[in-house]
Amino acid sequence: MIILSIETSADETAAAVTQGRRRLSSLLYSQVLLYKQWGGIVPSIAKRAHEERIDQIIVGAVKRAHLNANFDQAMKKIDAIGVTYGPGLAIALEVGINKAKELARKYQIRLIAVNHLEGHIYANFIQNRRGMPPRRFTFPYLALLVSGGHTAIVIFRRHLDYQVIGETKDDAVGEALDKAARILGFGYPGGPIIENLADEVDNQDKYLFPRPMARSDNFNFSYSGLKTAFFYRVRKMSEKEKLANLRYLASSFQEAAFDSLIIKLEKAIKKTKINRILVGGGVSANFYLRKKIRSLVKKYQGRAFFPPQRDFSGDNAAMIGVVAYFKARQNQYVENIDRLDRQPRLAIGEFNT
Ligand code: KG4
Ligand code: ZN
Repeated sequence: MIILSIETSADETAAAVTQGRRRLSSLLYSQVLLYKQWGGIVPSIAKRAHEERIDQIIVGAVKRAHLNANFDQAMKKIDAIGVTYGPGLAIALEVGINKAKELARKYQIRLIAVNHLEGHIYANFIQNRRGMPPRRFTFPYLALLVSGGHTAIVIFRRHLDYQVIGETKDDAVGEALDKAARILGFGYPGGPIIENLADEVDNQDKYLFPRPMARSDNFNFSYSGLKTAFFYRVRKMSEKEKLANLRYLASSFQEAAFDSLIIKLEKAIKKTKINRILVGGGVSANFYLRKKIRSLVKKYQGRAFFPPQRDFSGDNAAMIGVVAYFKARQNQYVENIDRLDRQPRLAIGEFNT
């Protein structure tokens, strides 16, 4: 089964062609450069940038899948179109959904609406053209979602079946890293900048910022207290002192932010007795976080999985195609194309297409 998928929930305009779990092509135009000076996504800019690029990205993805040199002919080989319908930025989601509808009508192809967060979980199972890595599904899993918009722990019991057991009460971990980078005077996205700065001082924890919600008896997260503590600590410093300690500040912030992920993940492993962990979302690209999760999971004789290529940690359309494939197998197509609408606040496990 060949699926064309489209993802425009935030700042990447992405399209992919997948066959089952195999990625035939995956293309993406990232808008991050447009936001360097703003410190985050600007909705009106995002909408325009998606509109300007989407055709090119779709044509490129279809071409690279080598179905046929001619676009119209290649589209005849597509069995379904998968599209992200939430959560995300309303006007950005709309661009992808409208394009998916247009193609579905023009080529008479069925649509599958995909939750972006499911995409981040299934990103762990994307394969290349040769079916590598094999990674068979062995349920249940605990999924740790760490992105710019979400921080959650989810029990993934079987295909398309999720139970959220913890989530952030305020900022997402990626958002917190972005804000910390900004406080230090860096651009967006902050996660990779903080990772590099911290690495330069071997991830030392000089400032011992608070570990939010560490003692609370649930699996939830909170990052606003950490952000505030960081802000005031930096504000107390002279410019000279700040510059001399940039790396230590970044490192200590990252340590506190990741420690609370590890503390909650460990609680969840103990409580659920599930020791197979899937990690997804932009922050899962972070090597230091990967190392921390691996050593935690080792303590419980489990296994940690990350998206097989670092690119698949962040937003991409191949992950949407893989979810769409499993939805197609359960016949979960959009019944009435006209009624498919964006759902900016869609929760994971919510199905109302
Ligand atoms: O999944 P994603 O691409 O978009 C959302 O769905 O939000 O995640 C973006 C987030 C940003 O906050 C960015 O700073 C963070 O992922 N990120 C990282 C790294 N690369 C991206 N955070 C930590 N370390 C990284 N290497
Ligand atoms: Zn995402």
